[in-house]
Amino acid sequence: MPPLTPWTLDQAVAAHREGRIDDAVRAYEALLEADPRLASVRHNLGMVSLGQGRLDRALPLLEHAYVEDGGNAGWLHSLAVIGMTLYEHNCWEDAYVWLERAVARAPADAAVAAALARVRARDYLAPEVYDPVQARTLLRHAPRESANYVYAIDIVGTCNLRCPTCPVGNSQASERPRGFMPLDLFEKIILKIVAERVDRQAEIWLFNWGEPLLHPDLPALIGIVKAHGLRCHLSSNLNVEHGLAEMVKAAPDDLKISLSGFTPETYERTHARGKLMLMKANLYLLRHYLDKYGVATKVWVGHHLYKGGESQLAAVAAVCQELGFAHHPIAAFYQPLERLVELIEGRGKPGPIIDSLIESPLVYVPRNAARSRPGLDCELRFNQTVINHDGSVALCCSVYDKENMLGLQFVDTPHAQIERARYEHAFCATCMHHGLSYSIPDARRIGA
Ligand SMILES: C[S@@+](CC[C@H](N)C(=O)[O-])C[C@H]1O[C@@H](n2cnc3c(N)ncnc32)[C@H](O)[C@@H]1O
Ligand code: SF4
Ligand code: SF4
Repeated sequence: MPPLTPWTLDQAVAAHREGRIDDAVRAYEALLEADPRLASVRHNLGMVSLGQGRLDRALPLLEHAYVEDGGNAGWLHSLAVIGMTLYEHNCWEDAYVWLERAVARAPADAAVAAALARVRARDYLAPEVYDPVQARTLLRHAPRESANYVYAIDIVGTCNLRCPTCPVGNSQASERPRGFMPLDLFEKIILKIVAERVDRQAEIWLFNWGEPLLHPDLPALIGIVKAHGLRCHLSSNLNVEHGLAEMVKAAPDDLKISLSGFTPETYERTHARGKLMLMKANLYLLRHYLDKYGVATKVWVGHHLYKGGESQLAAVAAVCQELGFAHHPIAAFYQPLERLVELIEGRGKPGPIIDSLIESPLVYVPRNAARSRPGLDCELRFNQTVINHDGSVALCCSVYDKENMLGLQFVDTPHAQIERARYEHAFCATCMHHGLSYSIPDARRIGA
C-alpha cells in the first residue's frame, strides 16, 4: 500500500527545527490527516501555529493534545511557552490555565510565576456583575490598565494644548467646567479613598482630560498621595515652563510623557498649540532633575503615531534610550466616546484629523470588537473611579460630555452608590453595542 503522506515524522520535525515553518505546518497536517491519533504531532502543529500567531488554530490543537498526553515530559517547556505567548498577546483568560500548569511543574520560573500572579482575578472584584440596563450578567477579568483599583483624579480641568484627537481639542462646545482642584478637596478625596479601602493598594492617577503640570500645588498633591502610601501616576505633555523641578522633587512613582513626533510639522499639528523645542528641552531637563535629586520615578514616553509618523520612531527611540526612558509607540486613537458614537452612527462632523490616523475608528473599532471576548464587563467601570476637578464623578475616563457625568460628589457618596449609578447609566449599553467598551482579545479569534 502506498504511504498516505509523502512526509515522515523525522522530516516534519527537521523542517520545524530548521525554521521552514510552512513546510513544517504542511508536514504535520498531512501526518495528522493520515493518523489523527498522533498526539505528539498535534502538539507540534499547535506549537508551530502558536509561533505563527495563529492562536485560533493553535489553541484547539494544544488543548486536544494536552488531554491526550499532557503527562509526557515533552510538555515541560511547551507549557511555559504557551502560557507566556498567550500572556504577551494580552489573551490572559486563555493563558491562565497554561501558566498554572507551567508553574505546577516548574515553580522556580520567576517570569511565569509573575505572569500567573498578574492574570489572576483580583480579590477585591466580584467575578461577575448584573447589568440592569442590558438585563444580563457580565463577567469581570483581570484588569489590564493596572493591577490595582484606579482613581483617576483630574486635578486640572483644562489643558494648555488642543490635541485634535482629545476632547479638549475636539469638543469645545461641550459644557464642561474648567478649573483647578482645591488642595483641601483633594485631601478629602484621598482620605475617603483610604477609609473606603476598595483595594488595599489603590493607585492614584492625577489626570484625565487635563494637564497635571499646570496645577500650582502639584508637589503638595503628590506629597499627600505618597504620605498615605498610595502609588501616584502622572501623564503630561511636558509643555510647561515652570514647575518641573518641583514635580520631580515630589517623586511621583510613574510619569508618562505623551508626544506625537519629533518634527515641528507633525508635533505641532497633532499636539496643537504645543511647542516641540519646549517639550524636547523638558525631556532633557527631566533627566537632569531626576539625577540631581536622586529620584527613581519610572518615566516612559507614550508616542502617538499618525500616518507617516513611523519615520520618526527611531529618533524618538534614540532620545528615550539616551535619557533612560522607556519608549512605547502606539497608533493614535480618536477620543472621546461621545464623538466616536457620533462618527459610527453617521452623525456630527468628524474632524480632519481622522484622515491622519493610521486607521480610521470605522476600521479599528469593528476589528477590535470582532477579536474580543464576548460577555465581559468593561474594565473602565469595574476597576476605575474618575473624579473631575470639582469633585464630581464621571461615568468613566473615556467620556467627556455633561450627560455622562454621574451628578454625584465623590466625597459625599459611598463607593457602592457610585458603582450603582455607573451600572444604571444608559450610555454603557450604547458604548458596548458599538464595540467601544474596553475590549479583551479572545485567542480563538486571533489569526496571524
Ligand atoms: C488626555 S491625556 C491627559 C494628560 C496629559 N495632558 C497628556 O497628554 O499626557 C491622558 C492620556 O491620553 C493619552 N492620549 C491622548 N491622546 C491620545 C491619542 N490620540 N492616542 C493615544 N493616546 C492618547 C495620553 O498619552 C495621555 O496619557
Ligand atoms: S491629550 Fe493631553 S495634552 Fe493633548 S489636549 Fe488632551 S489633555 Fe491636553
Ligand atoms: S462601557 Fe463604555 S461608557 Fe461604560 S465604562 Fe466602559 S468605556 Fe465607559
